[in-house]
Amino acid sequence: MSEPVHVLFVCLGNICRSPLAEGLFQDKVNAAGLEGEVVVDSAGTGGWHVGAPADARMTATAATHGTDLSRLKARQLERHDLHAFDHVFVMDKSNLHDTLALDPDGDHGTRVRLFREFDPEPGDYQVPDPYYGGAAGFETVYAIADRTTDAILERLAVVYGWDLEDA
Ligand code: 4NP
Repeated sequence: MSEPVHVLFVCLGNICRSPLAEGLFQDKVNAAGLEGEVVVDSAGTGGWHVGAPADARMTATAATHGTDLSRLKARQLERHDLHAFDHVFVMDKSNLHDTLALDPDGDHGTRVRLFREFDPEPGDYQVPDPYYGGAAGFETVYAIADRTTDAILERLAVVYGWDLEDA
């Protein structure tokens, strides 16, 4: 069997946006029977919340849609991740800057991409940070992450030849 494809989602704190993307994408990978083909993870560019569970508001919103984030723990992005992961999807332009700054001499053009480049309704190409806002922000982030993780799985299926028809 070939090496699994490694997919990483990155935001600032790794307690709202990127754990949601990780949870959604993992569920979709599992539903498609691709567990052995894909490794899914998330990380934050900042270290404030390392070891913490996802934000209770994000976990609650995800749970109302049937997505379980309770197992996830925040970790900080490391330089090594930029080489260990085949695809790194970042939530906003600040995350993109901070991610690339970890290894400024590396060639990451195809590995590190804005998550919403794959959103069929990309808006400004950034996932808004819900941390300091109200409940509606978490619903907005859920809708963006749900349709964008669908689109990313479909795109990777084309690239890697996975059959999603069985899902
Ligand atoms: P996230 O949200 O990047 O989507 O996990 C945030 C979480 C924490 C903070 C900012 C954004 N913070 O400033 O602590």
